Amino acid sequence: MSKKVIDLLNEARSRELTAITQYMAQHYELEDQDFGKLASKFKEVAITEMKHAEQLAERILFLKGVPTSKPDADAKKGQTIQEMLTTNIGLEAGAIKMYNEAVLLCQSEKDQKSKDIFESLLGDEEEHLNYFENTKDHVDKLGPAYLATLTGK
Ligand SMILES: [Fe+2]
Ligand SMILES: [Fe+2]
Repeated sequence: MSKKVIDLLNEARSRELTAITQYMAQHYELEDQDFGKLASKFKEVAITEMKHAEQLAERILFLKGVPTSKPDADAKKGQTIQEMLTTNIGLEAGAIKMYNEAVLLCQSEKDQKSKDIFESLLGDEEEHLNYFENTKDHVDKLGPAYLATLTGK
């Protein structure tokens, strides 16, 4: 099986590990600031990314590769809610771009199963991007009135 595909799966796994660390860090900060509703949504997204990281690792192992345990960036701390959302939009958009390219590469390497994994991840990342974009849009347009609806449990 192709080393190219293993490298691609590991590059994706590094992105997932970054997203997990980032969304969890935000989740703790938001919880601390009493934005409980926003925090639980971020936690939910982080858990989906954990499943992605795991799915990628399983495929890498199956292909006799070694799953990386290194995120490709450090989590940003101390951001405002708008900054957090901008960070997350960047992570999701970057993943979508890379996974779309990965689908094509898996196809040219004739690796249908890895291609299926990237396609299924893409469905989730598009949902995440949409959620972060909509939320940022609401915060930008409605400000404190909208933020108030994201507090508490
Ligand atoms: Fe993901
Ligand atoms: Fe995502």
